[in-house]
Amino acid sequence: MIRRNMMSESAAGKTQEKRENLVESFFHGTGDTYDKNVHIATWGRDKQWKEELLSFLDSPQNILDLACGTGILALEMALRFGGNVTGVELRGEYLDICRERAEKAGFAERTRWFEGNAEEFLIEEQFDAITSCYIPKYVNLDVLVPNMVKMLAPGGLFIMQDFSYPEEKWVQNIFDDHFGRMKQLINGDGWDVMWEELPTVLKNTNWIADTARNMREQGLVDVTIVPQSRGLSSLVYGRKPSA
Ligand SMILES: C[S@@+](CC[C@H](N)C(=O)[O-])C[C@H]1O[C@@H](n2cnc3c(N)ncnc32)[C@H](O)[C@@H]1O
Repeated sequence: MIRRNMMSESAAGKTQEKRENLVESFFHGTGDTYDKNVHIATWGRDKQWKEELLSFLDSPQNILDLACGTGILALEMALRFGGNVTGVELRGEYLDICRERAEKAGFAERTRWFEGNAEEFLIEEQFDAITSCYIPKYVNLDVLVPNMVKMLAPGGLFIMQDFSYPEEKWVQNIFDDHFGRMKQLINGDGWDVMWEELPTVLKNTNWIADTARNMREQGLVDVTIVPQSRGLSSLVYGRKPSA
């Protein structure tokens, strides 16, 4: 993997633009159908994978959720822990849904929604937990992880989940067949590019090792990888040492 500090600024900018274009091609116009389709596309496991992520959190009161999408995890954390939640997301279309849902749930005062690239999100604030589902494969982790660690409070947990390519052959077979079936099942509504290109993105990403390495390099401790559903998804987390 090419490290950003070895690249010219303009080359780094171009690869970032390429990644953002990929995200745009995957998610353009999918806001209204996202929640239903993430459920179907994960065999209903999305909820279970998020529950496991939440089980590592110890009632954090100031949370940052990266790539918050339509707010599934962010709003659940606002409900469950009762604190403040900040979401960052590239798609304004998705953030409109977050705002509407937060308003309806009575969380408008305790939630904030920023439109932009999570890689570069850096504010003068400390978060007890930084969470994310399905972002690592889309970002330069050499940029994102150091930025997040700067905003993590002492004792705080940084945890990310995403799909992963399983190691066992029979599970690989399930993975390999899955996206073709999804294309037959859910077509139109902006989802076709996703089913065609996501398998290649997932086979090419090295997000688990890159996240764990970056977390360690940035001084996080207890860095742990947790495979989910026989490695079809994984969690990686690390904790900032208490001051
Ligand atoms: C599969 S969705 C997951 C949404 C949400 N985390 C969830 O679990 O329901 C992936 C999301 O990542 C967002 N995304 C991808 N790259 C991003 C980036 N660099 N910065 C912010 N959001 C990003 C996309 O716009 C999309 O909403």
